Amino acid sequence: MAASSDQGSSGAPKPVPGSYGLPMIGAVRDRLDFYYFQGQDKYFESRVERYGSTVVRMNVPPGPFMAKDPRVVAVLDAKSFPVLFDMDKVEKKNLFTGTYMPSTSLTGGYRVCSYLDPSEPTHAKVKQLLFSLLLSRKDEVVPTFRSNFSSLLATVESELAKSGKAEFNKLNDVTSFDFIGEAYFGVRPSATELGSGGPTKAAKWLIWQLHPLVTLGLPMILEEPLLHTFHLPPFLVKGDYKALYKYFSTAGKHALDTAEGLGLSREEACHNLLFATTFNSYGGLKVLFPGLLAQIASAGEKLHERLVAEIRGAVAEAGGKVTLAALEKMELTKSVVWESLRLDPPVKFQYGHAKKDLQIASHDGVFQVKKGEMLFGYQPCATKDPRVFGATAREFVPDRFLGEEGSKLLQYVYWSNGRETESPSVDNKQCPGKNFVVLVGRLFVVELFLRYDTFTATVDKELLGASVVFTGVTKATSGPGS
Ligand code: HEM
Repeated sequence: MAASSDQGSSGAPKPVPGSYGLPMIGAVRDRLDFYYFQGQDKYFESRVERYGSTVVRMNVPPGPFMAKDPRVVAVLDAKSFPVLFDMDKVEKKNLFTGTYMPSTSLTGGYRVCSYLDPSEPTHAKVKQLLFSLLLSRKDEVVPTFRSNFSSLLATVESELAKSGKAEFNKLNDVTSFDFIGEAYFGVRPSATELGSGGPTKAAKWLIWQLHPLVTLGLPMILEEPLLHTFHLPPFLVKGDYKALYKYFSTAGKHALDTAEGLGLSREEACHNLLFATTFNSYGGLKVLFPGLLAQIASAGEKLHERLVAEIRGAVAEAGGKVTLAALEKMELTKSVVWESLRLDPPVKFQYGHAKKDLQIASHDGVFQVKKGEMLFGYQPCATKDPRVFGATAREFVPDRFLGEEGSKLLQYVYWSNGRETESPSVDNKQCPGKNFVVLVGRLFVVELFLRYDTFTATVDKELLGASVVFTGVTKATSGPGS
């Protein structure tokens, strides 16, 4: 499907349609629509429909009393969305979580990298630190991933033998936490004083920052006052944070030396390492792997057969080893990972304040936005835009990004807060973990199909993404995985 041009605009700029309703009341009503009456996707889609525009004014949660101003201009198609990546057009200060900001007492009193605009000097220093860390550990990623996730799959098999099912998300939480610690710092968190408590402490600390944006499935009358109206008090999670901090200050010694060389204090760097590892990386993998597994499980045996052939073929050619060169040859595997990131991006909301009066072009028109207004993107609307991805925009098409035609669509994959064809830098806000994430996504698929010919699983929804339960695996009958 031909993608429409991102440039050019037709006609004179129009005011952005939409409505915020009455002050306070409108925002609370919309919050209830978002969580309970309509649900996330419907909330946005129904407003696009009502106003006949993919650039549209609306309130976003949480609203009162946590957000000073819930009003946004939403950009909900593939063409207008990238305005959020343009650092000349938007300022990204203190808006990582959107219209509210969690207390900095949850991050040692510091505004960590995700909340910094590239115009702030600390942004470049911390981002450089993360680039250096990832680069210095690049040779450790493949072996560390394989040892951690092959042991996860061995547990899946023993649970299946015992009870006929294995809950993937629980196992993934424990494994991903140890994997990241070992991959970044060479020290498994579970082998330190933290013991097996790391993932639970991390999850609790994440909830303290994200509760305004989630529903736990409790009755509205409980969730509204508890989760969506006031901040949970930071002191209740202080002990957990302290225990996590201790791990980073010891295991991260090498990275902290690098940080000092970049002009950061060890303390500020350590709070940043904790955040990038625990919130950005662990929080990301908690959603990424279940999402990817869910798509592959639902796609069924035909896709499994093709992945088995590709993966085992490339590994056999590489002398039975999973090398970076072998991974590069697995084009279907790569396309599957991108397709999963497109269809179900793990981080769905992006924000930015207009730096100046702007004109934003959608497929249908050009809209005028004033300096200071909050722009907001709900990514699934943009990455499922039928004007770019055609009639199958809402379907999982494993081959979507194959070949020359397929690769032209990569510019419309936005999961990293930037185009998949662009790279993160100290001057932009694109995810510094971009290559790492696509690499571990591919490694995950490789591990599965070196070990299994096929598998079955049930898929459901949970807090931030999919929940997957394995119900059966067929062990490999041929090739390097058998
Ligand atoms: C930023 C997604 C993994 C570190 C971002 C943003 C997104 C994102 C959407 C932009 C947020 C915004 O400003 O609006 C993801 C997803 C991941 C993932 C979906 C996994 C599935 C990682 C990893 C790291 C990381 C492994 C490790 C270094 C960061 C940092 C930022 C960021 C530090 C802030 C960038 C800046 O300030 O310039 N990520 N990320 N992320 N991510 Fe990731």
